[in-house]
Amino acid sequence: MIGLFIAFEGGDGAGKSTQVELLADRLGQLGYAPILTRQPGGTTLGRALRDLVLHGEHMSPRAEALIFAADKAQHVEELIRPALLAGEIVITDRYTDSSVAYQGAGRDLGAEEVQRLQMWAVHDLVPDLTVIVDITAEEGRRRRGAVHDRLESEHDGFHEAVRDHFHALAAADPQRYLVVDGTDSPTQIAARVWERVEPMLPGVPS
Ligand code: TMP
Repeated sequence: MIGLFIAFEGGDGAGKSTQVELLADRLGQLGYAPILTRQPGGTTLGRALRDLVLHGEHMSPRAEALIFAADKAQHVEELIRPALLAGEIVITDRYTDSSVAYQGAGRDLGAEEVQRLQMWAVHDLVPDLTVIVDITAEEGRRRRGAVHDRLESEHDGFHEAVRDHFHALAAADPQRYLVVDGTDSPTQIAARVWERVEPMLPGVPS
């Protein structure tokens, strides 16, 4: 696959979205035009699924895992894979590791099973780099304040399990992951991300 695929992952309130913007700005200054997207919700179907899964009524953990998987299947087929095939840089705010951590570890469905489901959904497409913006469950809750979707409203133990699983994924494959401390300043974090991204960049299109 040509192009460059970067995912940002981390707990709710970690500051991923700010980092996606900062990376995109820096790339833009160099003449790149990255495609920014997010999960769930990067397509028309995905936006409907996002509403359902984050703001709907109670649903079973397996139904939840399948909705997140459906969002990713559509997202990869409609947007991510065609963009990468065209040589674009794609930056996504969350990807399959969120499901492995939230549904697999947080909901207790089993990380390996959820990983298999996710890989099936995305035809085994893995990012070239996954940046995990790390914060504690307590800090995440403090930053989120009073607004909570279905996942955000889970107790701290759930969010700690999610965080531990992100750490485990990164430890198992340091080549593909970068873990940054979400309590550092946004510019410090962005500098660490840039150190990893810069050597991976394709030539600027003329
Ligand atoms: P966001 O607000 O960062 O876009 O994330 C939406 C919420 O959905 C967040 O609490 C994490 C959760 N989530 C999952 O549980 N599984 C997934 O596969 C994804 C992509 C997100």
